[in-house]
Amino acid sequence: MGKRGSVLSQIQSFDAYAKTLDDFRVKTYYGAILTIISAILICILLWSEYIDYRTPEMKPQLVVDKSRKQRLEININITFPHVPCYLLSVDVMDIAGETQNDLAHDIYKTRLDSDGNEIHVEKTEELGDQAKGINKVLNDTNIAHNETYCGSCYGGELPESGCCNTCEEVREAYIKKGWSFSETDTIEQCLKEGWKEKVSQQSKEGCNVAGSVRVNKVAGNFHLAPGKSFQQNNIHLHDLQPFLNDGVKHDFTHEIHHLSFGPKVQGVVNPLDGIGRSVSQGHYMFQYFVKVVSTQFHYLNKTTIDTNQYSVTQYERDLTGKDTSGHVHTHHGGLPGVFFNYDISPMLIINREERKSFTHFLTGVCAIVGGIFTVAGILDGFIYNAEKTLKRKIELGKHL
Ligand SMILES: *[C@@H]1O[C@H](CO)[C@@H](O)[C@H](O)[C@H]1NC(C)=O
Repeated sequence: MGKRGSVLSQIQSFDAYAKTLDDFRVKTYYGAILTIISAILICILLWSEYIDYRTPEMKPQLVVDKSRKQRLEININITFPHVPCYLLSVDVMDIAGETQNDLAHDIYKTRLDSDGNEIHVEKTEELGDQAKGINKVLNDTNIAHNETYCGSCYGGELPESGCCNTCEEVREAYIKKGWSFSETDTIEQCLKEGWKEKVSQQSKEGCNVAGSVRVNKVAGNFHLAPGKSFQQNNIHLHDLQPFLNDGVKHDFTHEIHHLSFGPKVQGVVNPLDGIGRSVSQGHYMFQYFVKVVSTQFHYLNKTTIDTNQYSVTQYERDLTGKDTSGHVHTHHGGLPGVFFNYDISPMLIINREERKSFTHFLTGVCAIVGGIFTVAGILDGFIYNAEKTLKRKIELGKHL
């Protein structure tokens, strides 16, 4: 052996796992039980550690949003039980100066009867055609006019054709001039079309507005308000006359089934979904102030989804005030309706899906195995010693 043997014996002295001689080992029944319990525990913990390792995690990260020239998609589905579709207009305005009046871009209005059941589905026409959009409901019987017919506009703003051949055209002409369109008895076109009858037929209906609209990604406002909207001297106005004075009580009780910005992603909760507000008077304004936060999702399979989350504060105001004579008059100059004021947050949340590292998993495995064996060893030693002491005491007792 000589020198080599002495080197080996020197290395041996580093052995942290010094073995005891087998002869001195004692096997006990509780040792066996502890071993089985430890094995089961190890299996369970290893399995849960493995599941944890295999489950990807969403790691959020907050950065300043550096994207440019984006459009924001607003998805909406909202029901008004007490406002008929022909009275409701959907308008979008933003601080960039873009307005979309009486929106018809992929927005569907569905007439609801007084019990809330659907009556008739109508896709309002494209934006360029907005003039005829919503009121197609009212004009479903086309009056055949001969080629030479040219109806009077009764002093309203003349359309390009110079004629108002339908009641709707007269209505447009009136609205453009800033006149209220409520006295239809004197208008020949409306009498012929039975406008008044249709209006009174539909006035007790409700309306569901659903669809999506794309807007500039800047702060803005979209609202659902009564009456046809129009632009006069750069002021956005609504013809409230039919809403307030048509003999039927309308109000802006509403239920928001859905409101989201951008595509739907699992895990994003929209705080306004399923929210409903009820009110019994017409002159009432609901406002929702919405902060939109851009959110990106990067998944392990390399797909990326750009969407938005939002937070909301709610505000409502009674627009009527009763003076001493009991007459209802309006004050503070507000418009009844439901308003969504949205604002874009400058921050971007990036949610990155990540798998845990393998070394982390390995560390976990070692910790579980080692930990359980150590704890079981301590327990075993404790029981062994206790048993020995007990036995010795019993022996002593016998000898006495
Ligand atoms: C709007 O929401 C209602 C109620 O949840 C639902 O029945 C309807 O299908 C939705 N409309 C659209 C266009 O998604």
